[in-house]
Amino acid sequence: MHYGTNKEAAKETVAAIEAAGGSAFTVGQELGVPGDAAALWQAFDAHADGLDILVNNAGIGTSQPFAAIGEEEYDRVFAVNSKAPFFLAQLGAERLRDGGRIINVSSGLSRAAAMPDLVAYAMSKGALDVFTRYLSKVLGPRRITVNSVAPGIVDTDINAGWLRGNEEAWAGAAAMSALGAVGTPADIADVVAFLASDEARWVTGDWIDATGARWPDAGRGSAARRGAGVSGPTRGGGQQPDAGRGSAA
Ligand SMILES: NC(=O)c1ccc[n+]([C@@H]2O[C@H](COP(=O)([O-])OP(=O)(O)OC[C@H]3O[C@@H](n4cnc5c(N)ncnc54)[C@H](OP(=O)(O)O)[C@@H]3O)[C@@H](O)[C@H]2O)c1
Repeated sequence: MHYGTNKEAAKETVAAIEAAGGSAFTVGQELGVPGDAAALWQAFDAHADGLDILVNNAGIGTSQPFAAIGEEEYDRVFAVNSKAPFFLAQLGAERLRDGGRIINVSSGLSRAAAMPDLVAYAMSKGALDVFTRYLSKVLGPRRITVNSVAPGIVDTDINAGWLRGNEEAWAGAAAMSALGAVGTPADIADVVAFLASDEARWVTGDWIDATGARWPDAGRGSAARRGAGVSGPTRGGGQQPDAGRGSAA
């Protein structure tokens, strides 16, 4: 169980895995810095001799729209959201057993210009999606599948600042989903679990829409856009990735 800063949360996940009869360990490593992937795998090797499933879930948002975003923030969002998964997969491939899985957590915004202020974030996820498609060809001969999962607005810490406790924002976010609700971590985890399962062995190079919506049309006039203001920066100067700022495309 990888973590960046929140070791306690990682330990809770390890405890949950152990309570369910599994075994797990934590590996702490900041991503988006030189040598991140090599250091992570070195720490991993001290605990295990290989793996079957790699989920690239760590990600950050951006705080500034097109006109204002600076090079530092642009580079940072790509370093964490695109470059880190690339090298984690590259160095992980030799540890990944044949028939394994790589699952990249993308975003509905990579295919829908629903929140134009998040252009750099969406681009970083778009690069991840292209990586998914190409890597599926590279690793396909080993029967390793590679897929992207694209969440919509999910109630996680990254959205806490503008979503939780704001009824109008919550209602607007829920309205963006065809299912009329804000996503939960479990909604996304279940899609990831399916791709990790044997039942998904014939699905690869794909982008699985887990927005609960039809995002190309989403958000027109929605309270999500009006309700979601700029909140406190996430690490790396990031803003919640899928907050509805700006106008719908
Ligand atoms: N929530 C949404 O609405 C939404 C929508 C679409 C896509 N996504 C994507 O879903 C994924 C998970 O996001 P989330 O909503 O769960 O956000 P979150 O609550 O902010 O969690 C982000 C996770 O990424 C890790 N992380 C972030 N930056 C890192 C870094 N530089 N080095 C190492 N670890 C780092 C964090 O680790 P620590 O906490 O240990 O530091 C944390 O586990 C991201 O890829 C995000 O882009 C989320």
